Amino acid sequence: MRRSPASRRHEQGRAVSEPFGVYVHVPFCAHRCDYCAFATYTDRDHLMVRYVDACIAEIDGARRQGALPPATSVFFGGGTPSRLAADELVRLLAAIPVAPGAEVTVECNPKTRRSTGSVPTATPG
Ligand SMILES: C[S@@+](CC[C@H](N)C(=O)[O-])C[C@H]1O[C@@H](n2cnc3c(N)ncnc32)[C@H](O)[C@@H]1O
Ligand code: SF4
Repeated sequence: MRRSPASRRHEQGRAVSEPFGVYVHVPFCAHRCDYCAFATYTDRDHLMVRYVDACIAEIDGARRQGALPPATSVFFGGGTPSRLAADELVRLLAAIPVAPGAEVTVECNPKTRRSTGSVPTATPG
């Protein structure tokens, strides 16, 4: 993974000021829409927890390499991220270093929206 100037500053312990967005793709849908151009699946819900595990492993690897500065925005897109169990979504978000005041967005299908309870505290650095 190529390191951005922002991540190099992060490694040196200084504040990161440039916007740094993280996109997490969640490829699970209840139905496949004919027009959809995104990578989604309707028959793999049994892999949701393993998918979150895999995303977290990749995030942890990037953190260890110093390639993941605190995100100023995090976007969970899909697919239908709101189909993940609330605890899984929170677990995924907690793995991502976020800057204070970071914007977090979750694409939802209103029929699958669930309360996620409290969002984890930001983990600067
Ligand atoms: C990929 S969906 C993800 C969120 C949710 N599953 C939904 O359908 O709203 C996000 C948006 O992309 C749109 N979209 C899907 N395929 C598209 C395409 N081929 N061209 C333009 N927009 C598309 C959908 O209509 C939806 O408004
Ligand atoms: S991501 Fe949205 S538009 Fe694409 S198949 Fe799923 S529900 Fe339909």
